[in-house]
Amino acid sequence: MSLTTPQRPLLPLVPAHAGGRSAMTCRYRCGNACFHDVPNTSSNEYFGDVMTHVVSRRAVLQAGAVLGLAGAAGAVGAAGAPSAAAAPPGAAGAPGLRFSAVAPNTTDAVVVPPGYLHEVVLRWGDPLFDDSPEFDPYHQTAEAQERQFGYNCDYLGLFRRRGNGNFLLVANHEYTNEELMFPGYDPENPTREQVEIAWAAHSLSVVALTAEGRGRRSGGLDPVVGHPLNRRFTMRSEFELSGPVAGDALVRTPDDPDGRTVLGTLNNCAGGLTPWGTWLTGEENFNQYFANAGTVTDPKAAERLRRYGVNKGPSGRKWERFDDRFDISVQPNEPNRFGWVCEIDPFDPESTPRKRTALGRFKHEGATISLTPDGRAAAYMGDDERFDYVYKFVSRDRYREGDHEHNATLLDNGTLYVARFTGDSPGEITGDGKLPADGEFDGSGEWLPLVTSADGEAHSHVPGMSGVEALVFARQAGDAVGATKMDRPEDVEPHPDTGRVYMALTNNTNRGLPGYAGPDEANPRRANKHGHVIELRESDDDAASTTFSWRILLVCGDPKDPSTYFAGYDKDQVSPISCPDNVTFDKYGNLWISTDGNQLGSNDGLFGVALEGPYRGQVKQFLTVPVGAETCGPWVTDDRVLVHVQHPGEADGSTFENPLSHWPDGGVPRPSCVVVWRADGRKIGTA
Ligand code: FEO
Ligand code: CA
Ligand code: CA
Repeated sequence: MSLTTPQRPLLPLVPAHAGGRSAMTCRYRCGNACFHDVPNTSSNEYFGDVMTHVVSRRAVLQAGAVLGLAGAAGAVGAAGAPSAAAAPPGAAGAPGLRFSAVAPNTTDAVVVPPGYLHEVVLRWGDPLFDDSPEFDPYHQTAEAQERQFGYNCDYLGLFRRRGNGNFLLVANHEYTNEELMFPGYDPENPTREQVEIAWAAHSLSVVALTAEGRGRRSGGLDPVVGHPLNRRFTMRSEFELSGPVAGDALVRTPDDPDGRTVLGTLNNCAGGLTPWGTWLTGEENFNQYFANAGTVTDPKAAERLRRYGVNKGPSGRKWERFDDRFDISVQPNEPNRFGWVCEIDPFDPESTPRKRTALGRFKHEGATISLTPDGRAAAYMGDDERFDYVYKFVSRDRYREGDHEHNATLLDNGTLYVARFTGDSPGEITGDGKLPADGEFDGSGEWLPLVTSADGEAHSHVPGMSGVEALVFARQAGDAVGATKMDRPEDVEPHPDTGRVYMALTNNTNRGLPGYAGPDEANPRRANKHGHVIELRESDDDAASTTFSWRILLVCGDPKDPSTYFAGYDKDQVSPISCPDNVTFDKYGNLWISTDGNQLGSNDGLFGVALEGPYRGQVKQFLTVPVGAETCGPWVTDDRVLVHVQHPGEADGSTFENPLSHWPDGGVPRPSCVVVWRADGRKIGTA
């Protein structure tokens, strides 16, 4: 158990890369997505956008002349050293957020508010089964890794199990960083053993946790090694394709001529738990694992690969040398079998997980469910790429409580939509964050139908594309109907009480650059380095509606930067926040946001923000994670806050032998699950 005290001296801060991360993170996380051309080259700007751009360019010139020095000062703030020490917000706040905010810092530790304690629950390599070997990073094997907690935990979901203090944790293992996993790793010449360990360290874990044996005040949790529900999914696990794409020629391969069974899931980023007790997980930057798209000569096929950013030459990890399903020149359809939302029943350890093709194929951040007033399931989803889209799927059938077999079909039948946002202050979006005359970045929107799936058939709403094509190449379907190009949509989650939907747009430093889409009211900041959060309200508060209204909740950054906005809350009373990524809610209705790639010079963190009442917009930092790490999978209950600390030590120059973080144990950095609770045993964030 450790208190909030930092244990280690400050480590040198490494300059961040485009998109807010170290070059090392860019390479291993998303295959250097930010250094490749933006895949969305469609000219699908609709008339409203075009009008806004034309007028706003003129408006910028005028504003520049009028603002003069003030504008210049703003630019310095935006470039961003940490704020010159405004005191972090104190304990006052909305119910659930009454803690003293953690100050921005670069400490190689998890830092929590005064009066709170934290502990590591599970580390990369921890044993999950009775026969799991102890972790030994110097002698790791694929067999051992298959029986241990995987690498780079991202999404975190927590089910309650029967019995007081018993939980079931579900965890994504998004990607591997071989330079921090293996002594003497040579990126040009990975060994078969290293590649097979990486296959075993990817994918998913299910782990039973218990609070039994802890004192009354402790929030500590322990893994139950050998629990019958514990499970690892790896690149060797069978996943079933379900929905209209299953069996189609686009997903048949030499290894799977029926096109129905895929080995493994890749780059699982965020996710969600369904009302019917299953787990959804999004396959995100799957493109980076495939090689040799440049060998494809058919222009249509080549364009499809380009739109998804698949490597023209070798892949970063060189898996194609060890399994030709990663080599497009040999197995051209294998990439079509990744980029889906997977649904898993963690309570049935024999169940086969399914890739739900009716939800479309793109770089899925995650998927979260809201029930419509008539009981259908709406799944909200973001495609995490600069200038890509926000999607929604609405099921044809209604959820039936307790009917497991029926509920397992909900995500195979229904309509997939993509979002178009229209601002209500056209001509006033200057790109520097200046609010329009109506005081808000806000407007209306439409959900544009792409495909309706029913009983294995896909009906297309997109001219020139079949239903199956519009699912497999959903990005191109979105291009064709004129979806709005967003600033990297990450988590898109409905509020469990109000149904309002919160969207984290992480950043997009290309916004407004020559040759790229300019600022619009839903993405109002040019070269958007710190990201923003949109609040969407469906018409009639019905998640099945095809129209909505929206407004921006936060324009992130240093509160001293004039381009920031905190729902109108006093900027002297908020924590700096940069690059919002994952979101969740507490029982008081507050939004919690974790960050990825802080551009203000501090470690990433977890923040709470009130959505209602006098504190609406007050952002407060609850914790920070160690050097090089990202805060993932926040989960907030009355008594505990859980986060996944992903990629500690992932900074340029960091190696296995000489890592830039030694968290959590002083040796090799280990991505881990962390639980936080109050030392006095009382509820989180209450007075
Ligand atoms: Fe894996 Fe969109 O972050
Ligand atoms: Ca407006
Ligand atoms: Ca994410």
